[in-house]
Amino acid sequence: MKIGFIGAGNMGRAIANGLVAKGVCQANALLCISASGKGSAIMAEQTGASIASSKLELIEQSDIVVLAFKPQHLETISEEEATAASGKLVVSVLAGRSLASMKDVFPDAANLVRVMPNTPSQIGKGVSTFCFEKVPSDEQKETVEELLASLGTAYEVVEEQLHVATVINGCGPAFYFRIAQLISEAADKRGLDKDLALRLAAETGIGSLELLLASKRDPKDLIDEVVSPNGVTHALLTSLDRQGLPAIIEQSTEDAANRSIELSQNKK
Ligand SMILES: NC(=O)c1ccc[n+]([C@@H]2O[C@H](COP(=O)([O-])OP(=O)(O)OC[C@H]3O[C@@H](n4cnc5c(N)ncnc54)[C@H](OP(=O)(O)O)[C@@H]3O)[C@@H](O)[C@H]2O)c1
Repeated sequence: MKIGFIGAGNMGRAIANGLVAKGVCQANALLCISASGKGSAIMAEQTGASIASSKLELIEQSDIVVLAFKPQHLETISEEEATAASGKLVVSVLAGRSLASMKDVFPDAANLVRVMPNTPSQIGKGVSTFCFEKVPSDEQKETVEELLASLGTAYEVVEEQLHVATVINGCGPAFYFRIAQLISEAADKRGLDKDLALRLAAETGIGSLELLLASKRDPKDLIDEVVSPNGVTHALLTSLDRQGLPAIIEQSTEDAANRSIELSQNKK
């Protein structure tokens, strides 16, 4: 089964690298193309993928077409290219581009899949959310799940849920990176070496969240295990709440989900 990537930047390469690293496909099953040839050259070097001479050639030779260019380039697909995708599976990672807008461009694809991946996919620890345009055949479902498993874990959602899911798993890495950055800066100001503080913050984050998943317990119970009355954690959480952390998370989730809706309506 040949997989062709239109766009070979960070996300396209993360998927292609994952596919090869996890042995889902051999290098000779991968094809790619990019705008300037820069991304495709890197993908070819990293994975052994072949570089197609045109998008048309890539689509004709692929069983699965992965769209991994910028969202605004969806409409650069020509009618001839779209026709070449007839009967094929088209997988898009384009943020904010709805299944309906994909259907406008690829009316005769066998099925369309909209995926929201995230950047930890680069190390096989990604989380993706996805939805199909049509109820998938068993084979299509298996193929997509195998493709996304090469990035980490993947969860099917209905398209309307993808806006909120995008905030959690698509934007989520930036949220955690920002928290780690702020913690390390606050620690640095108080005399703890910044690199050590960043490591402490990151490892504590990983350990805590792994405990949350492994224990299957409610976060509130796990918080109770850390807090003692009038202790340090109590001071930290009380200060966070007093300064409005719950309202900040609530409003920022709303703002980001609304932005995802706007983008899917083609608002700049
Ligand atoms: N990064 C994330 O965290 C993330 C998360 C979820 C979804 N996404 C989605 O993933 C997609 C790719 O993002 P990215 O971070 O990988 O971007 P990126 O690193 O900028 O890569 C974009 C790629 O698209 C190529 N390209 C641009 N115009 C093209 C065209 N008209 N035809 C074919 N290829 C074209 C570029 O070519 P050159 O290499 O030759 O310049 C490059 O290889 C976006 O749609 C984004 O919404 C990204």
